[in-house]
Amino acid sequence: MIEFRQVHKHFGALHVLDDISLRVAAGEVVVICGPSGSGKSTLLRCINRLEQIDSGEIVVDGISVAGTRDIARLRAEVGMVFQRFNLYPHLSVLDNLTLAPTKVRGLPKAKAVAAAMELLGRVGIPEKAAAWPAQLSGGQQQRVAIARSLVNNPYFMLTDEATGNLDSVTSEEILAMFERLNDEGRTIIMVTHEDDVAAHAKRIVRLKDGMIQSDKLNEHRVSALARTKVHGAELQAAEEAAAAMGVAEVA
Ligand SMILES: Nc1ncnc2c1ncn2[C@@H]1O[C@H](COP(=O)(O)OP(=O)(O)O)[C@@H](O)[C@H]1O
Ligand SMILES: [Mg+2]
Repeated sequence: MIEFRQVHKHFGALHVLDDISLRVAAGEVVVICGPSGSGKSTLLRCINRLEQIDSGEIVVDGISVAGTRDIARLRAEVGMVFQRFNLYPHLSVLDNLTLAPTKVRGLPKAKAVAAAMELLGRVGIPEKAAAWPAQLSGGQQQRVAIARSLVNNPYFMLTDEATGNLDSVTSEEILAMFERLNDEGRTIIMVTHEDDVAAHAKRIVRLKDGMIQSDKLNEHRVSALARTKVHGAELQAAEEAAAAMGVAEVA
């Protein structure tokens, strides 16, 4: 469980988090939405102490975020995926995935490589291990970033506008991937300012001016998983039609 108890934070005179109390139970998917500048990213970044809070408390699975001396353990529990994929441009996909496990955790290279290849398989791009980030599409880069966030097998996933740079089909695929990660039991908090992304969540928390404006179950939830199945089927049908006509693709 992730719990905020009367959390306040300022940036100078700006009251960026204003008395935030919020509980996210194990296994939930919660979307935090709201206009630009409402404090969404700051709220997320406080969870793994990328930002410090002024008062109140944040507790992650029994660990007090402000109080813990073991920040590495806390962060290992919490995977993060950002809008800008934040891959190292000078490292191959494989090296992006093995850097932290080998350098920080001291895992033997062969083990880190095997784990990375398994993760690349799970995000659907095992053939891209040797590629450079710049050679990948935005959606593929985000898949690598998701694989990287899974390296520690975290219990929680935090995503900040993770589909903000992607076209709508690719965005659905990435959302479907988060849905699968949730099905595996991971608790997910997704930040977005896009209503169509929010529509996928079972629960929607709206922030405004650093305050929680509403916290509601989403009766009209649509499943990204179901929608990508449709897209996939359409794509396959289009490919088959093209093959039947003896052309490479149908415009
Ligand atoms: N490191 C910082 N220093 C000063 N102000 C910041 C910092 N980070 C964010 N802010 C300000 O805090 C407010 C909320 O930012 P943010 O949490 O990024 O909002 P959102 O993600 O909802 O767009 C904005 O006004 C932003 O300019
Ligand atoms: Mg933001």
